[in-house]
Amino acid sequence: MSEVFRLDTAHTSYWFRVTGQGHLEHLYYGPTLPARQDPDALAVKRTAPIGTSTNYPGADPVYALDNMCLEWSGAGRGDYRETPIETDTATDFRYTGHEYAPAAPDGLPRPHGASQSLRVELADDAVGAALTLHYDVFYDADVIARHAVLSATGGPIQVAKLLSAMVDLPGGDWTLTTLNGAWVKEAHRQALPIGYGIQVNSSTTGSSSNRHNPGVMLAEPGATEEHGRVYGCNLVYSGNHYTAVERSGQDLIRVACGINPAGFGWTLAPGESLATPTVVLTFSDSGYGGASAHFHDFANDHIVPAYWARRPRPVVYNNWEATFFSFDAGKLLKLAKQAKALGAELFVLDDGWFGKRDDDTKGLGDYTVNPRKFPNGLGHFAAQVRKAGLDFGIWVEPEMANPDSDLYRAHPDWAITAPRREPTLGRNQLVLDLTRAEVRDYIVANVGAVIDETGAAYVKWDYNRNLADTDAPGFQHRYLLGLYDVLGRIFGPRPQVLLESCSSGGNRFDLGMLCYGPQIWASDDTDPVERLEIQGGLSLFYPQSTMGAHVSEAPHQQTLRDTPLTTRFNVAAFGDLGYELDLRMLSPVQRKEIKEQLAFYKEHRATFQYGRFRRVDTGMGAKPNKAVWTVSAPGEVIVGVFQTLATAAEGLDRLVVPGMDPATEYRLRTREQSVFLSRFGELIKHIGIRLNPEGMAMTAVNKVYRLTDAVEDYRVFGAALGNGVPLANQFMGTGYNDRVRMLGDFGSNLYLITPTAQTGSTS
Ligand code: DGJ
Repeated sequence: MSEVFRLDTAHTSYWFRVTGQGHLEHLYYGPTLPARQDPDALAVKRTAPIGTSTNYPGADPVYALDNMCLEWSGAGRGDYRETPIETDTATDFRYTGHEYAPAAPDGLPRPHGASQSLRVELADDAVGAALTLHYDVFYDADVIARHAVLSATGGPIQVAKLLSAMVDLPGGDWTLTTLNGAWVKEAHRQALPIGYGIQVNSSTTGSSSNRHNPGVMLAEPGATEEHGRVYGCNLVYSGNHYTAVERSGQDLIRVACGINPAGFGWTLAPGESLATPTVVLTFSDSGYGGASAHFHDFANDHIVPAYWARRPRPVVYNNWEATFFSFDAGKLLKLAKQAKALGAELFVLDDGWFGKRDDDTKGLGDYTVNPRKFPNGLGHFAAQVRKAGLDFGIWVEPEMANPDSDLYRAHPDWAITAPRREPTLGRNQLVLDLTRAEVRDYIVANVGAVIDETGAAYVKWDYNRNLADTDAPGFQHRYLLGLYDVLGRIFGPRPQVLLESCSSGGNRFDLGMLCYGPQIWASDDTDPVERLEIQGGLSLFYPQSTMGAHVSEAPHQQTLRDTPLTTRFNVAAFGDLGYELDLRMLSPVQRKEIKEQLAFYKEHRATFQYGRFRRVDTGMGAKPNKAVWTVSAPGEVIVGVFQTLATAAEGLDRLVVPGMDPATEYRLRTREQSVFLSRFGELIKHIGIRLNPEGMAMTAVNKVYRLTDAVEDYRVFGAALGNGVPLANQFMGTGYNDRVRMLGDFGSNLYLITPTAQTGSTS
């Protein structure tokens, strides 16, 4: 009897087997199967030869690789679909054995805490190559992780392409969802029908990129956030990625994922091996939301460093948008003290503290503190911040050097350049060559010293340009291996330091970086309306705990959009909250509002950061100018209702809250928030204030007086919440009273839902 591999997670099964010819045939990926299921019934049938097929030598006449569901394939043996491997010859790997054992560490980031590990050995004797397919099962998270390792067992092998995994799924008219964007508009969700041929989601910038995130989802027709069959696939890698989705003429859908073959190339000397990054797969029959929930659990429990798994993340205050490069210790300390008074927990000193860095043309690569800005040194400043009651955090951009830096003057050869070409600059900087041991040692020593000297509890690791001038095949992968080595050496021995990675915002938002630091600055764009797209998109694959999300100034620095302070908080609260505006400019009522925001966030921090996140696509969430998010934890649910552009007579909103226990009674209550008088302009006459809206008296009143937005308070059973609870009317020009929800353009509310009795449940 042929070997059948049955991998089970809590709600899914993943089966494959060895065929009579030694190929691995994929049998099933879907809801959990009983072990006694007959595998033959699961296999794609081969009962009639399909014309123009190439038959496999020595096999029965219907054995054609092109018409089978496979776990791995090759080129040149009759499978004409996307191949996961390209060498200088045809390849045909066949089973030689297996063992239930994990892979040895190999310098690439890998998920931790697998419940089961399997390695399946294959060989192609004609090439002189062995291939190990690794499978790791994450039972509770419903995730299967895979990667491949290729070894040269005979002569040298030239590898042009080696993906991590491929799988063939029976499909048809499915939909492919990807996250696309650019700087300040990362992770916008796009869904396209999977047509015949190949669709590729990839990056070539040297990083996982803000253009195309590595995560993809495949969904059956009609799938919604809560219903339908959805597969998810993501790559634990921060460099050039590649996912090909091919629909064959027989409607099989192949998903093949790994390092982008563009620019890749590797020579394997006899006895050498090449390991590929981990691909993670999930399946849910509860829609996109179900697949996202699996990936969220997986990232929280098996990707982020064990020390930070489910650990509360501090509320930070970051000086960047408040000061840019123009600061000194005195100014920053004032901001730190104000941040502390509002409730912040950690002060982040952003760019500009070292060398001659008063703008972005100089200083990168140097680590000597700027004596004009910090006359008593950085350690002293960090101690003062701690004395003010905040932890200290610091910004670094260690992979870079400005040509105008002491480092570059001393070691011009440490920067990546191409022979006979003028080096390319991005944001006035060059990238350091992390394939070189001395460069890596310099970074490890200097960043380590800064952390130790300042006692930093947090590091923001920035990376503000893409790779270029990297001529040699495979160089960009070697760069990534260098980066992972550096990160491991700096943060491995300092697990308690909270690493937030950043790449001009979300230009490297991926599971690879999350293996070293548990959060990532999601975008330089902190406009809450844009963040609905960005955080909402990222939430397909990444949990809220991984997304740095800050309240900044309005009008917003990238969009000029003027949004209420309440909405800026209400969106940022669904992430790792921080503040980044100039606190010295706040009015007393704005201070009060922020204090209340922080108190609410801290009280519900575990729910915001680790609760089950849902994008609601029914009720109000189905309207084009609304977004509805919920987070739920035992004992409470928080709902965010966000309106983008108001339409006239925005009236009868119905709040649908999925996932509630139908038979439990809950209290649904709006979080109290302010409406500032400045929102009304000339309309203040409607609320009985007869002051010139532009006048000095009004300016003074606006600083100290605020209205409370409508607070609704209902008792409702879960069944009614699932069906939709009608909310109070929105402002529509027929008068203001304290039961009118003041949304307008960019308004929003948070609602807290708690069971009325101890027995209630939320999930
Ligand atoms: C880009 C980051 O995304 C910003 O938050 C800030 O840290 C700047 N770099 C500093 O140069």
